Amino acid sequence: MKLPNITILDEKEPLLHQTSAKVTFPLSKEDKKHIEDMLTYLKMSQIEEYAEKYDLRAGMGLAYVQTGILKRIFVIVEELENHTFKNYVIINPEIISHSEEQIYVGEGEGCLSVNREIEGIVPRYARVTIKAQDIDGNPFTIRVREDISVAFQHEIDHLNGILFVDRINKQNPYQNMEKYREI
Ligand code: NI
Repeated sequence: MKLPNITILDEKEPLLHQTSAKVTFPLSKEDKKHIEDMLTYLKMSQIEEYAEKYDLRAGMGLAYVQTGILKRIFVIVEELENHTFKNYVIINPEIISHSEEQIYVGEGEGCLSVNREIEGIVPRYARVTIKAQDIDGNPFTIRVREDISVAFQHEIDHLNGILFVDRINKQNPYQNMEKYREI
């Protein structure tokens, strides 16, 4: 596998705090290629051999804005079992419903744009139902849970200019943690 040429913006970049624009269809050839590249990048970051070779931090999701383009697109690559992966390409997403229950990632959320240790928890809905469009503009809904639900909410935040660190209370980074379930 060849590492795609993708530059990921650091949290200091003001662009990461801007709202991404709704996408219109059909997508250009460049956009389709860029989406493929983002998926390949994430997959390679999760395969130890490539992660080592190219010094990649493992990532599960990536929003378009993190690569410098303000469009409402994100991708997620979920490792199912030994080197088999499930790809999600999500365009113009909207959360249409969510569970009452909230969860947080015990070891902390990570982000390819945040290159430092972060203390604290980010409460997320345990389950969300999302309405979105696929790469051809076809509408669909998807219901996700647990870590994939966290990833979806993290990426939707990116489209609205929000980083997970923005959601952590600086004075009390573990505020109300007893109210949420750890995953
Ligand atoms: Ni992120």
